[in-house]
Amino acid sequence: MGVKQAGTRPMQNKKVAFWFYRLLSMVYDDRCTGVAWTVEIRDAAMQRADLCDRKLKVVDVGGGTGYSTLAIVKKVDPENVTILDQSTHQLQKAREKEELRKCTIIQGDAENLPFPNDYADRYISAGCIEYWPEPQRGITEAYRVLKPGGLACVIGPLYPTFWLSRFFADWWMLFPKEEEYVSWFKNAGFEDIKVEIEPPWWFRGSLRHGVIMGCWVTGVKKKEGDSPLKMSPKLEEIEKPEGVFSSLGRFILGSLAAVYFVLVSNYMWIKYFIFPKGVAV
Ligand SMILES: C[S@@+](CC[C@H](N)C(=O)[O-])C[C@H]1O[C@@H](n2cnc3c(N)ncnc32)[C@H](O)[C@@H]1O
Repeated sequence: MGVKQAGTRPMQNKKVAFWFYRLLSMVYDDRCTGVAWTVEIRDAAMQRADLCDRKLKVVDVGGGTGYSTLAIVKKVDPENVTILDQSTHQLQKAREKEELRKCTIIQGDAENLPFPNDYADRYISAGCIEYWPEPQRGITEAYRVLKPGGLACVIGPLYPTFWLSRFFADWWMLFPKEEEYVSWFKNAGFEDIKVEIEPPWWFRGSLRHGVIMGCWVTGVKKKEGDSPLKMSPKLEEIEKPEGVFSSLGRFILGSLAAVYFVLVSNYMWIKYFIFPKGVAV
């Protein structure tokens, strides 16, 4: 199966992602972080965001429970940090964190940010792009809201090369290829674009099953104002609203496909301990 068009993967849909996180928010901090998206990997990823001054104005888009924001507020005053997410349930968990008490926490859509042009010094989005029906729109918004000299840092998945993993990736959510990230950033107007890929250490460098949070892309906005790219009306707004059964179908298919990647992670973890060191698995 080839790569599907943007917005066509089951969970690459705002309504479905909302309900997915309605459930996942109950266990997100306890079960979903820590294995692949460890504190060490998260803190290393944040170094790419060049948080060099405590006074930087930072927006954390798709900030969820604030797990990644915890790394941001180690480097930047929390008063200068805004967490935005479409899930009220995820944000409620962020509100309960003492370290994030002084952050601004707002519900909103990554594809339609409620900030003026040239607003922030840093745009950070970790593990959110995979749910965007139109990733180009989200990256174009990142460009718009940054000040000249501002930097965007997007952390997301990478498309697998192994055929079975590709199949299940397509039935779950958006797993972009490296060149897709670069073209979205370029089209939006970003310069100095850099991509780094780092699978969890227990993958031993293998990328054939893709990565879920191991692709880090940064770009710098050099000129003030809106993106040179003019977008057409939003996909999810112009299409007729999706019916309950279709949304439920997406939810079930996407959740089932996600189970495959839980199994792959367990398989890679076990393989790491069984195979002699130095053997790529
Ligand atoms: C995997 S979680 C990542 C949360 C956090 N950034 C972290 O590192 O733990 C993905 C988050 O993206 C949010 N999300 C998905 N689509 C979104 C959209 N269109 N606009 C804003 N948030 C969105 C979800 O609600 C969820 O909280």
